[in-house]
Amino acid sequence: MNSQRITIFDTTLRDGEQSPGISLNAFEKVEIAEQLARLGVDVIEAGFPISSPGDFEGVQKIAREVSGVSVCGLARAIDKDIRTAWDAVREAERPRIHTFISTSDVHLEHQLRKTRDEVLAAAREMVALAVSLCDDVEFSAMDATRSDPDFLAAVLAAAIEEGATTINIPDTVGYAMPAEFGAFIRDQFERVPGLAEVAVSVHCHNDLGLAVANSLAAVEAGATQVECAVNGLGERAGNASLEEIVMIMETRRDELGRETGIVTTEIDRTSRLVSQLTGYEVQPNKAVVGKNAFAHESGIHQDGVLKERTTYEIMNARSIGRSQSDIVLGKHSGRHALKSAMEELGFSLSDDELNQAFENFKKIADKKKQITAVDLEHLVSEELRELTDIYELKSYEVVSSSEFTPTCQVIIEKEGEELPGRSFSGGSMESMFMAIDKAVGTTGLLKDYQVRAVTSGKDSLGEVKVVVEVNGEDYAGTALSIDVVEASAKAYIRAINNAYRAGAVK
Ligand code: KIV
Ligand code: ZN
Repeated sequence: MNSQRITIFDTTLRDGEQSPGISLNAFEKVEIAEQLARLGVDVIEAGFPISSPGDFEGVQKIAREVSGVSVCGLARAIDKDIRTAWDAVREAERPRIHTFISTSDVHLEHQLRKTRDEVLAAAREMVALAVSLCDDVEFSAMDATRSDPDFLAAVLAAAIEEGATTINIPDTVGYAMPAEFGAFIRDQFERVPGLAEVAVSVHCHNDLGLAVANSLAAVEAGATQVECAVNGLGERAGNASLEEIVMIMETRRDELGRETGIVTTEIDRTSRLVSQLTGYEVQPNKAVVGKNAFAHESGIHQDGVLKERTTYEIMNARSIGRSQSDIVLGKHSGRHALKSAMEELGFSLSDDELNQAFENFKKIADKKKQITAVDLEHLVSEELRELTDIYELKSYEVVSSSEFTPTCQVIIEKEGEELPGRSFSGGSMESMFMAIDKAVGTTGLLKDYQVRAVTSGKDSLGEVKVVVEVNGEDYAGTALSIDVVEASAKAYIRAINNAYRAGAVK
């Protein structure tokens, strides 16, 4: 059976990055974008360039460095946004401007404070502006599913007349139900004949857990592009999960008759990379990429799978690239072995990056017998995070005993200057975080603190994740070390670096 090709528009770096606590630096964004290109997505929505200088830089870097994929920047239907988005993406192999305006009365009245006529005029004018700059323009009608269908149709028709090449119909607040959404899309096709001539996209949020189901209903109704995010990241409950959309189209092609250009064997690695760099853990029972997605616990299931895999498995773990990698390095492994292991894992390191990775690898290999693929992936993520940090841990000393109050002293380095900090308090971690606060001159409120072993074994690398409130905003930090005390300090400092980037720390 011939399947229809669906465009996969990935918004991990834009809508996904809007998840609370996620703050990726430009290097991390490029690393994810390169992996998305290897995964085979058609469009990478790289960010919202007007929103901050950091976002602009990230989008521009991706546009310049990542090839083989369309790179898109988001812009409100505002002159300055559109020109800024264009400046950020113009050097891409295939640039796209994505402009949007709300069409629901509730947004018009309370947020935009505009009449329907004003919104219609802005959509027309701003799509025309975007088209004058870029050949590939996507227009989104925000909160489409709660809009008057007549007015929505008028706005979409105007955007098409002005030259938009993709029309996106989002379920911004995750309110729609699958059958209802399918009917809504069909109705818009009937009202707006021009939709047959452009790509029709959907962008569904997961507030009621229906983002994937709604996206598929829209595809069955004629949508040809799905907007989704790795691990389902995104505002509030997130966006439709890329891996679920893709594996449904793959596994149930018999029923849906749709396919994508995704290299499914890259799915697992992409999910792990995004989880490591964003600090958002994937729930163990998450469909497709959860740790347990292919694990069989009950005796009956294990017996069945051992006799014939398909008794209890509808997908093969290998099809998403999940297999036990046999990469094992140790303290005698050289630079060349590290380089080829990294390449096998999909990381292309420059000479400088390789030198840095090798230095860190040796430090760990001195203390840990076997370094596995999982360790190496974490090592690379750790280095990417360090690249743009302004505060760095130079040294620390924690004294903790059952008899005395724990004390801690740290030296933090900021642009070559050494900042000392010293504190004591009831807990050794508390005194460490307080000493860091003193060195930096800030007061962070620790809101979450998690420690886990990256692999099994007492010599496993320890990963620490923290969420720290600084001046009323939450900042996340993740760090890795063979010593969890050091990882804790580094994670806390990383959160402060994220606060610094956002302007909350001087
Ligand atoms: O949810 C939404 O409507 C959006 C738009 C910008 C497409 O994210
Ligand atoms: Zn969204």
